[in-house]
Amino acid sequence: MALLEVKDLNVYYGVIQALHNVSFQVNKGEVVALIGANGAGKTTILHTLTGLVDSESGSVMYNGEEITKVPGHKIVSKGMAHVPEGRRVFANMSVYQNLKLGAYTRQDQKEIADTLASVYDRFPRLKERRNQLAGTLSGGEQQMLAMGRALMSHPDIILMDEPSMGLSPLLVNEIFDIINDVHANGTTVLLVEQNAKKALSIADRAYVLETGKIVLEGKASELLDNDDIKKAYLGE
Ligand SMILES: Nc1ncnc2c1ncn2[C@@H]1O[C@H](COP(=O)(O)OP(=O)(O)OP(=O)(O)O)[C@@H](O)[C@H]1O
Ligand SMILES: [Mg+2]
Repeated sequence: MALLEVKDLNVYYGVIQALHNVSFQVNKGEVVALIGANGAGKTTILHTLTGLVDSESGSVMYNGEEITKVPGHKIVSKGMAHVPEGRRVFANMSVYQNLKLGAYTRQDQKEIADTLASVYDRFPRLKERRNQLAGTLSGGEQQMLAMGRALMSHPDIILMDEPSMGLSPLLVNEIFDIINDVHANGTTVLLVEQNAKKALSIADRAYVLETGKIVLEGKASELLDNDDIKKAYLGE
């Protein structure tokens, strides 16, 4: 069943059209990758899903409910969490305060404490550094914090915008292991990446975006074998 179903999305920034009839779906339990070059519109898609950018036309259905015009904070409480491009942690707040903020849509303190414990289990480095100001964390640690903060809302689906950006190969592997682990624990994942090889290696299916249009879709394993994709995105 489609957890997320996007149909014919058209988005403009002023007179410039950033998305052209974008349609795709993410089924419950899948990892779906959205790949494309700089400026293709990947972040715009995620921002439209989370209510940060308005669409001119088209629809977004989540869990069978139309959320096209629903404001961002309500979307989080429906079970969708966003790990933004460039991490965007609150630099002047501690790791702990950042994580607590991720749970702002939840009420039950016991459940929040349980989720916090599970986030600290998954990211021991965040636990060690829980009182450190987020702005002083390394890039990799900030990425972990951004992921941990998203997990604090206990999402059904997590949208990740270029989690590997700017990280060393070793850390990229670590972040992808964590994405795999989050997925194995039952969270659906929509993954935006320029690192197409890595993204396709963990995804079930993928969509390729070029200048605001979906030009190709398929099983991730098939796209990894596709000659055009190899040339354009895998450097082969
Ligand atoms: N707020 C904005 N105002 C005007 N144009 C914008 C705005 N945000 C994005 N754009 C333009 O929309 C297009 C798509 O941008 P977007 O950020 O979605 O691309 P992207 O695929 O995420 O790229 P990258 O891989 O570099 O993050 C680009 O041409 C960009 O310049
Ligand atoms: Mg982007």
